[in-house]
Amino acid sequence: MSDQQPPVIIIFGITGDLSKRKLLPALYHLFEKQLLPNGTKIIGTSRRELSRSDLLNTIEESIQAKKESCRPEAMNQLNEAVSTAQVDPVKTADFDKLKDLLDTLDSDGPRNRLFYMSIPPSAYGQIISNLQSSGLNAQQNRIMLEKPFGYNFNSAEASVKLVSSAFNEEQIYRIDHYLAKETAQNLLSFRLHNPIFVPLWNNQHIESVHVRQFETLGIEGRVNFYEQTGALRDMIQSHLMQLLALTLMDVPEDMTSRSIHEAKQRFFKGLDIANPALATRGQYQSYRQEVSNPNSIVETYVKLELSSHLQPWQGVKLFLEHGKGMNQNIADIAVAFKSAGERRRNSLIFQIQPNEGISLDLLVKEPGLANEMRHTSLDLKYKDVFTDILKIDAYERVLMDAIRGDQSLFAADEEVLTTWRVLDPLLDAWSGTNDGLVFYPNGASTV
Ligand code: BG6
Repeated sequence: MSDQQPPVIIIFGITGDLSKRKLLPALYHLFEKQLLPNGTKIIGTSRRELSRSDLLNTIEESIQAKKESCRPEAMNQLNEAVSTAQVDPVKTADFDKLKDLLDTLDSDGPRNRLFYMSIPPSAYGQIISNLQSSGLNAQQNRIMLEKPFGYNFNSAEASVKLVSSAFNEEQIYRIDHYLAKETAQNLLSFRLHNPIFVPLWNNQHIESVHVRQFETLGIEGRVNFYEQTGALRDMIQSHLMQLLALTLMDVPEDMTSRSIHEAKQRFFKGLDIANPALATRGQYQSYRQEVSNPNSIVETYVKLELSSHLQPWQGVKLFLEHGKGMNQNIADIAVAFKSAGERRRNSLIFQIQPNEGISLDLLVKEPGLANEMRHTSLDLKYKDVFTDILKIDAYERVLMDAIRGDQSLFAADEEVLTTWRVLDPLLDAWSGTNDGLVFYPNGASTV
């Protein structure tokens, strides 16, 4: 892929929900922050005719939906960059036309071409085969995919095969935007550069790791998607498993994309297959009404305990917990250290969002004559420390990395398959039965 020419990003599904919520605002902000190479082009494709002004309006609306206002300079740049193309996924001729259009943009030399699939995986097949038949899968082109990467091991394997029939792994960028969150990126660097923690990072000292993500909102109208997905597939298999890996995998000295993925895969392979007896699933009380399905058994909450047979992690309890309709918006990772006797445990907490930071909780003697101890913490808040740094949102980072060709923060095929292999028994145990499904009030603090 050429690094000289500015990229062209071709988006499938540009009018969809995900695109409006994450992708278009990220593109807008990259233009606003002037981070994209000069001359970057965006092509929004859609089955129905979509005008440039429709697309620009959609971008503007997606920013306003975030209670922000659009800066005229950024909109002017987008105006220069954006064009649209009518592409019906089943029409090979439309892909030939798309190729002609892309070739016209290459008059000064080949550009990086990034095909961004902001569409459900069920719609990939036709597009991928047409990209291939019109030669748009050439080695210098890249494809970006959104989760879910399959619905279980078998479908994930089929999806990996499908994509790899046209693109090789170096061209494939599977987005897991949690990997691109600032504090998640810091996990490996923090462990590499703070040697004080290195001797503590094993089962001699760590008792448990708890990765948690709660949201106050429910499914926000994504009825079809969620009824087929549920919390385990939506958040645990991808985001939370990846965070767990970043917390415990070996940290490669060279920090190259290849060695990061190799170390992560070693960690995933070391996990034991999930035990349904150690998992809880729940559904918030208004869910069935919201999806108009009085019998839905789809879970909106999961807590599970995993274990590893890798020597450094044997016996450490690994908790993953996610819920929608909870009492707070939070994502954090708590590493609890063993304590001697009855003493309280120290925990190191990585706060992924909101208020990114890292804290270490401690017991400190209260000043005064009495020997009372008080629970307190050493608290690093990014907002207090990094006041002069330009903030880059996860989706912005994802796009920039794909443009630069850095796969470190994306999910590799083997990782996707191995995590499914670990979690499949839960899907099997929960399928077709509501045994053990707990109904929790909206706004619950736990289930
Ligand atoms: C997405 C899930 O991957 O992540 C959503 O599909 C979830 O259900 C979202 O709400 C959470 O992401 P964030 O960045 O808003 O915490």
